[in-house]
Amino acid sequence: MKGLLIFACFFWNGYAIAQQCPIVPFPNDVKTINGKLTLTVNTQIICDDDRINEQAIYLQQQILKTTGLTLSVGAKSTNSAITLKLENSIEGAEAYRLDVKPNGVNITAATAHGIFNGINSLLQLIRLSVVKNNNISITCWSIKDSPRFAWRGLLLDESRHYFGMEMVKELLDWMAFYKLNKFHWHLTDEPAWRLEIKAYPKLALTGGIGNFDDPKAPSQYYTQEQIKDVVAYAADRFIDVIPEIDMPGHASAANKAYPVFSGGGSTKHPEFTFNPGLDSTYSYLGRILRETDVLFQSQMVHLGGDEVSFGNEKWRTDPGVVKLMQDQHLADLTAVEHYFTARMADTLFQLNNKVLLWDEAADADLPRDKTLIFWWRHDHPEQLKKALDKGYFTILCPRLPFYFDFMQDSTQRLGRKWKGAIVTLDKLYAFNLNDLQVSNEHRHQIIGVQAGIWTEFITTKEKLEYMLFPRITALAEIGWTLDEKKSITGFHQRVLDQLKLYRKDGIYYYNPFKPQQTPEPLTARQVANLSE
Ligand code: ACM
Repeated sequence: MKGLLIFACFFWNGYAIAQQCPIVPFPNDVKTINGKLTLTVNTQIICDDDRINEQAIYLQQQILKTTGLTLSVGAKSTNSAITLKLENSIEGAEAYRLDVKPNGVNITAATAHGIFNGINSLLQLIRLSVVKNNNISITCWSIKDSPRFAWRGLLLDESRHYFGMEMVKELLDWMAFYKLNKFHWHLTDEPAWRLEIKAYPKLALTGGIGNFDDPKAPSQYYTQEQIKDVVAYAADRFIDVIPEIDMPGHASAANKAYPVFSGGGSTKHPEFTFNPGLDSTYSYLGRILRETDVLFQSQMVHLGGDEVSFGNEKWRTDPGVVKLMQDQHLADLTAVEHYFTARMADTLFQLNNKVLLWDEAADADLPRDKTLIFWWRHDHPEQLKKALDKGYFTILCPRLPFYFDFMQDSTQRLGRKWKGAIVTLDKLYAFNLNDLQVSNEHRHQIIGVQAGIWTEFITTKEKLEYMLFPRITALAEIGWTLDEKKSITGFHQRVLDQLKLYRKDGIYYYNPFKPQQTPEPLTARQVANLSE
């Protein structure tokens, strides 16, 4: 009887899985349509609206890149077609409809972003279909989709290790494929400063020297031309790039370049802070933020604000800080920190930027309509509650489960552990807002989720890929798919499909179903890079 039951479950699962739509993140409304659509070189991409012409070309190029099929773009066709059309009646800035029928494809949305999301769903169907004799046969679906959260982010820390343009663009490509829309670029910290600032060239030239392993590694940084290139590349994919210029702590690399603005540090974190007791510090940082604002189009800068107490003990005796405390009636060093943050936030507001800050800033008093708080300390749930009670819009990025430098498997050699905890792919996927006890009245303040790739131990492209793929798929579904549409068995099946794409693209992924197995025999260099 038991055997029969297992067989029945297997059969049922097999049946259910065979019917499943393979798109990641899983769409919020999807129905099967009978039949198959065949794309051939005669299929045309139809678009007679200049507002979405770039998206039509993106689809054309991606189909060529991933399948070798050359489709033309035009205003009309007599053949079967993929038709892109803006329609105001579709509600939601990112919502789209995708109808794949035996006689053609329709993608409709009210915005170009919605069209782009529909295109990426179609590209996923295409990439997972078989190409035979230059024909692609696709299962038919009717999809009405829109995201659960507006903010679906990924952070890359390039201070601790620098990865460069190619890796950043690869990340942006995959983010677009999975409908992630915010790239949080952690460009400054203790080991190095990675952003060229014309007014202060030593920030990159001197501050760019070193990484987490080697304080003498030759300077590596992004030039302003490269930054503009990344921002434009991301914009083509509807991804906002948000720079993080961490202050007043995590400032050691900047202080190496311009020690005059250092507020000192501690034994463990030397020269860790900017000096809040010097007026010139504010004009120096203001100038940096003005250049940053010109380079990035997102109208948001993340000012960090985390862990200042790691290295602000010299403030206590610094004559400038002591005087500031007297003049401004600041009772303690936390009050100094908040004074500093409010002043730098004001600089951003004058530039029509929002200020983004880690959850320590929930203790400060900043304008609610121009401030976003990132809750990262999973072991401080009271900080999330405080941010919400005070009325801040908040992004959830708790270390557990959202820091992807943490281990995903007990057999892994690579990654950090939090008090022995391992965050498996399934645990990550199970992340649920309901477990955070957020009251209904505050739910609308949670605008999204974000994962972080911190790179103390992630030193190479292979390691980065290993820690990110396939976790990025779980992140995408947490951000996009409604709880009631998620399913762990369905997700496993979708991940298995995505692993095929990683193999095709030469991604050095982690296989959660066969943890000990690496995708390809490793080169000697990869073996050396993978072991700590
Ligand atoms: C952080 O991880 N210090 C934001």
